[in-house]
Amino acid sequence: MPRYTSSPLAERSRALIASLQTAEGAYPASPTFSAYTGYSWFRDGAFIADGMSATGEAESAERFFDWCAAVLTDRADHIHWIVAETRAGRPPAGAQMLPARYTFAGGAGDDEWWDFQLDGYGTWLWAVVEHSRRHNVDAGRWSQAIGLTTDYLVASWDRPCYDWWEEHSEHVHVSTLACVAAGLDAVTDAGLLDGAREAGARDASAAIRRLVQERGTLSGHLVKWLGSTAVDGSLAAALAPLGFADPRSATGAATIDLLERHLTVNGGTHRYLGDTFFGGGQWPLLSCFLGLAQLAAGDRARAVELYEWAASTATEDLDLPEQVSAHLIAPGMRWEWVDRWGTVATPLLWSHAMLLRLGAELDATAPDSAADTSAAPATDSVLEGLAR
Ligand code: BGC
Repeated sequence: MPRYTSSPLAERSRALIASLQTAEGAYPASPTFSAYTGYSWFRDGAFIADGMSATGEAESAERFFDWCAAVLTDRADHIHWIVAETRAGRPPAGAQMLPARYTFAGGAGDDEWWDFQLDGYGTWLWAVVEHSRRHNVDAGRWSQAIGLTTDYLVASWDRPCYDWWEEHSEHVHVSTLACVAAGLDAVTDAGLLDGAREAGARDASAAIRRLVQERGTLSGHLVKWLGSTAVDGSLAAALAPLGFADPRSATGAATIDLLERHLTVNGGTHRYLGDTFFGGGQWPLLSCFLGLAQLAAGDRARAVELYEWAASTATEDLDLPEQVSAHLIAPGMRWEWVDRWGTVATPLLWSHAMLLRLGAELDATAPDSAADTSAAPATDSVLEGLAR
């Protein structure tokens, strides 16, 4: 009997996401937060679709994938141009690359943003394949957009760009690489690409893994960007649900250990040390990603604690915020952001989706469930942890 996915908070999360999905199929990041209103992100949206898909809302996920596919196929000529220019040794400037977010009608919008981010394009590929497998759906209906995305990522994956937090465009971020590799692996393994494309996607994924082994790990754990010594809360996603690195490998264990010790306080996970956004609070969606990683690594009790912390951030109306301020890294910076953009984005659909996703995994692996995978074998070297 599902427990986590039938709680009042889970029911409310599904209903909220469903009610806010637009007629076009887009998922708004947050309905009321000034800086996000009117836009849908590929990153947030792919994880929102995955959370909905994992909790029985297949049609909603598919409407989002249709929206993504329309956004991409409408830009087919532009994507062909980016790929051709890049292959000719003239990679277009970041401002010419695909943006991180679109208006619900699929436009780029008029507001300035930190737009050149590659991760969401990998994540949508990954999510569409996860969904197709989960619900036994033919992904052929998205094949043109999948092909365009693959070409774009194969041409561009090694470029520095903004990260999950829309910062540090001068670096190549390990979570971004994990999203790209997970997406390319998903579409190749699902047999969705023709021969030449498939070879290119496999080569890019292998090159990403080599690069992460050489410059994206330190003392056995994944790092925030190539050459960095720090970790970032988004790295949990590289372990689960993306499976870029094996959560049960030595790399997985060392990464989880640092995410717990450096970034997590009483179950609430920070983005990174040095975060000043709204004072640098704790993000329920990151606790859920860490919970997925812990669960995949075999620590169910810790996954439950992380879930419970994330659920505890809900408001009286059962809205989940982007972050909470119980433990701030930079308390003096909080009001600067409140003055600039208003109070923290609440509800944030991605937070609701991650609670659904961790809840679905907890239900599926409950001790009395046939799907319990807690006895899976461990791997123990960095190389094995990142191997395919
Ligand atoms: C976060 C992004 C997110 C966006 C919309 C930003 O503040 O840094 O990760 O995609 O909000 O939710």
